[in-house]
Amino acid sequence: MTTEIVSPSMEGIGRAAEVLQRGELVAFPTETVYGIGGDARSDEAVRKIYEAKGRPSGNPLIVHVKSVEAVREYVGNWPAVAEKLAAKFWPGPLTMIVPRGEKLSKLVSAGRETVAIRCPNHPVAKALLEAFDGPVAAPSANRSGFTSPVTAAHVYAELAGRVPMILDGATARTAGGGKLATDCVVGVESTVLDVSGRVPTILRPGAVTLEMIEAVTGCVKMIETVVSEGESATSPGLHSRHYAPRTVAYRFNRDEWPRARAFAEGHGPAALITWDDDVSLAAPHQTILLPRDEPGYARHLYAALREADGMHVKVILVLAPPVEAGLWVAVADRLRRATVVLLGERSL
Ligand code: TXA
Ligand code: MG
Repeated sequence: MTTEIVSPSMEGIGRAAEVLQRGELVAFPTETVYGIGGDARSDEAVRKIYEAKGRPSGNPLIVHVKSVEAVREYVGNWPAVAEKLAAKFWPGPLTMIVPRGEKLSKLVSAGRETVAIRCPNHPVAKALLEAFDGPVAAPSANRSGFTSPVTAAHVYAELAGRVPMILDGATARTAGGGKLATDCVVGVESTVLDVSGRVPTILRPGAVTLEMIEAVTGCVKMIETVVSEGESATSPGLHSRHYAPRTVAYRFNRDEWPRARAFAEGHGPAALITWDDDVSLAAPHQTILLPRDEPGYARHLYAALREADGMHVKVILVLAPPVEAGLWVAVADRLRRATVVLLGERSL
């Protein structure tokens, strides 16, 4: 299969919608990360998604819809709390787990009675959902277990030959021909919130934070996130190794910098990803300095992990977030899965 990268012009979107109608897959940008999408009503299309990603068949997919109105057709029950949260945060980076409806392929739910639904806030994703006029199942467009893509080139690197079409958000234009800032502005995957039970429960932290949800619902809890490989998890995506670069990556706290530097000297060359310009390494090592503010850091993190992976270094070192609040919670969660703790010599 050849993989075509297509500009999301009116014509490009129209072609992409036709590809989905034929039961084939299209990778497309959302405000979080790129997704690999297929018709969520079609077993055949959904099977292709699992196959393209090499995703275990027990890990369910997120269904993308164009509006709150569109969601009712595909769920078994739409709780009042979901309605309230959707009114506040959709379109946007919030996925809600609700009882599933009969019109969706059962494969989307991977054997569960629930389905994950979200309404993305990205002009290309919106245009595609409008043109296709149906529910699109779309997990992140990476090979299972690896870093989510935030550019069309990342998707190509992961899925060339496995998906016929990639819509390139960076080449999107406004109706007047102006350039749209349409890469993945959030940069980490959506918050996954289970609203099928009594207390809304965050299964995966994201840009819609616990504090933001609590302000709407009055109560919310966060599940214990890291689950070791092989153990069953409430959300199968919560296995400990996930979002990972190919090169071995270690994380360390700010006060562990002297030890991390010594480790780089002994085991490098290293690529260091940091938010603090006092934490940096000179040649032969490489340093990637990310913004210190949490939205800026989250937006650039996955591109930085890929860049570090491409530097052909022996190890990647990542300075852990300064605090765990707001969006840093999501960043810390992804880093816990993408990296291992630097324990000094014993960690080898
Ligand atoms: O930002 C995002 O959510 C991106 C973009 C493309 O929308 N998508 C994404 O999908 O990250 P994926 O498949 O990589 O992650 C979906 C997460 C997984 O951790 C999965 O286990 C969980 O949602 N999930 C999906 N359906 C579920 C269900 N019915 N019950 C519990 N967890 C579910
Ligand atoms: Mg994923």
